[in-house]
Amino acid sequence: MAPTWPAMEYAERSKPQGSASVRSHIAERANISMADITPNNVGQLHMLNAKLFPIVYVKELYKVQGEDVKPLCKLGLFNDIPVGDICCTLEDGPDETTWKIYIMTLGVLPSYRRLGIATALLNHVLENAPVGGMFAGRRVHALYLHVQTSNVAARAFYEKNGFVVSDKIEGYYSQLEPQSAWVLEKHT
Ligand SMILES: CC(C)(COP(=O)(O)OP(=O)(O)OC[C@H]1O[C@@H](n2cnc3c(N)ncnc32)[C@H](O)[C@@H]1OP(=O)(O)O)[C@@H](O)C(=O)NCCC(=O)NCCS
Repeated sequence: MAPTWPAMEYAERSKPQGSASVRSHIAERANISMADITPNNVGQLHMLNAKLFPIVYVKELYKVQGEDVKPLCKLGLFNDIPVGDICCTLEDGPDETTWKIYIMTLGVLPSYRRLGIATALLNHVLENAPVGGMFAGRRVHALYLHVQTSNVAARAFYEKNGFVVSDKIEGYYSQLEPQSAWVLEKHT
């Protein structure tokens, strides 16, 4: 006679309603953290950026940035897995006592979006280099960046974080369509 097995008993699990609450549920359970970019993981940064951006960033750029920008370049980790990054450069501000911080890259792999990872990366930069505050011996005049005018998600993200559109540049992305870019800035 074939053996019979008792029915399994499952504990009740609450099901989040709708996709927005599913993502907040995931975000609550996940460990979102950051890592410095080092010679050991810089290859992961290049792979992420190759997936995230239509522009190829020169690999040497990260090497020649120097010590000052290290706190402004981070990998974003989801349960210790690199899934995003932020990388900024320092430019002279209106005078030699100030900086303008240029956000060169800020991106998160599609499956890991809307979990607060880009917000955590941007907040890290804003905490280290607050607009109006001091960073690397100078006052931070502003943070700014370019986004393609078709990039509705990025514009929404930055506007939620207090950036405003200060300009539109036609032909900024000569290899892309559309070629135009929004300039988004955060001032005091
Ligand atoms: C823009 C980008 C970095 C946002 O990353 P993310 O980790 O999903 O952002 P967050 O989860 O921190 O989002 C914070 C808030 O920004 C806004 N936002 C983010 N993505 C959005 C979208 N697709 N549409 C509308 N609002 C959006 C929302 O208000 C969101 O809060 P909510 O999820 O509670 O509604 C991501 O979409 C991305 O990597 N895009 C490709 C790369 C890129 O274009 N980078 C910008 C140029 S440097």
